[in-house]
Amino acid sequence: MFSATVSAPTNIACVKYWGKKSVALNTPINSSVSVTLDQNDLKAVTTVCVSKSFKKDRLWLNGTEEDVTKSKRFMACISGVKRLATTKVSTEGEVLVDKSEWKHFGVHVSSMNTFPTAAGLASSAAGYAALVAGLAEVFGAKETYPGELSTIARQGSGSACRSLYGGFVAWRMGKDHDTGEDSLAQQVCDENHWPELRALILVVSDEKKDTSSTEGMSTSVNTSKLLGYRASTVVDERMRSIEKAYTERDFETFGKITMQDSNQFHATCLDTYPPIFYMNDVSKSVIKIVHAYNRWKGKVAAAYTFDAGPNAVIYHLEDVADELLALMLQYFPDDKFLGSLFGSSFVNNPQAWDRAKAFGLDDELLRMCDAKGRARGMGGDVKKIYITKSGPGPIVLSKEEALLDPETGLNC
Ligand code: DP6
Repeated sequence: MFSATVSAPTNIACVKYWGKKSVALNTPINSSVSVTLDQNDLKAVTTVCVSKSFKKDRLWLNGTEEDVTKSKRFMACISGVKRLATTKVSTEGEVLVDKSEWKHFGVHVSSMNTFPTAAGLASSAAGYAALVAGLAEVFGAKETYPGELSTIARQGSGSACRSLYGGFVAWRMGKDHDTGEDSLAQQVCDENHWPELRALILVVSDEKKDTSSTEGMSTSVNTSKLLGYRASTVVDERMRSIEKAYTERDFETFGKITMQDSNQFHATCLDTYPPIFYMNDVSKSVIKIVHAYNRWKGKVAAAYTFDAGPNAVIYHLEDVADELLALMLQYFPDDKFLGSLFGSSFVNNPQAWDRAKAFGLDDELLRMCDAKGRARGMGGDVKKIYITKSGPGPIVLSKEEALLDPETGLNC
């Protein structure tokens, strides 16, 4: 039996992927680009065990076994990485497993998220990236061209391909519509490129969303003319501009495109028939308050984006971090009753929370935000706040962090 444990990050797109060119290959109708988030705050941890004695492939997700034998996505990742497997040799040079033998090995996988699954926080991205990275580690997979592993992760979940790299990562849609082999992720800038960049995540709902991305995209592709226009006419120019802005650390351009693209993605959801609503009234209040804040600042200092759910991700720079958190805590504070039960878990960084609580917000700013119609001090609409930044791609962890028993290969 051989095993590996890895962790992988989530990512939040600034130019969104929405719509599939090929459902079978899971290729997109447009390119997209995202920030990979720091695994110290949000991550998926996955252990992969392989053995000739395993009768079938099995998966435990957050401790519960799921039937994956019929999951095309899961199986595509296993067979994709097995194809790139190499011969395993011991440190003494003895052949342990010849690469032709791997096809006889069964695969056990156990995966955990440190954040709400399927609530629009890109949990499938982190999960499939961790799966592919874990399989690649166990099988000693070698890419035959850069980004090949990301083409496999893409077949698990489109956005997962971007989680195989740290920093700012583009998913190039590709031209080869028969194989999808050039529909892959490419790092634009690594995680150290823009150390001042921050993301504030407001978890508005930690429940599973009612329309999955896959289902929503399919209805959008079939019914929304706006989506077709977006893919053919808008996205390429946005990709060029935002990649340049990120490379030059130009927050204003980066932030404006991020907000506009989130808005256009949700507009295509509204243009879908029947329409899909991912944002709710709390999300809309966040949008209004961010625009009021930017107006007061006289520039784009905060930029929201929303995936397929109501949770807000607000990109900003470190110099406004305390002020922005203080502002959000005015309008989206914790539920005092639940807070007293769960202690200090509302904000993932207690020091930042303390600094924000002590921050003296400007009266004029509060007046401008009050005018947007959301009452101050109304707790409970935001369940949890994460403060995070950009981080690296998957990381190989030690044996001590394994989620599968090293003797039996069963979930611990
Ligand atoms: C709104 O990657 O979850 O988050 O490929 O069907 O698994 P599938 O979809 P998924 O869609 C993510 C959509 C998005 C935008 C984005 O991350 O680019």
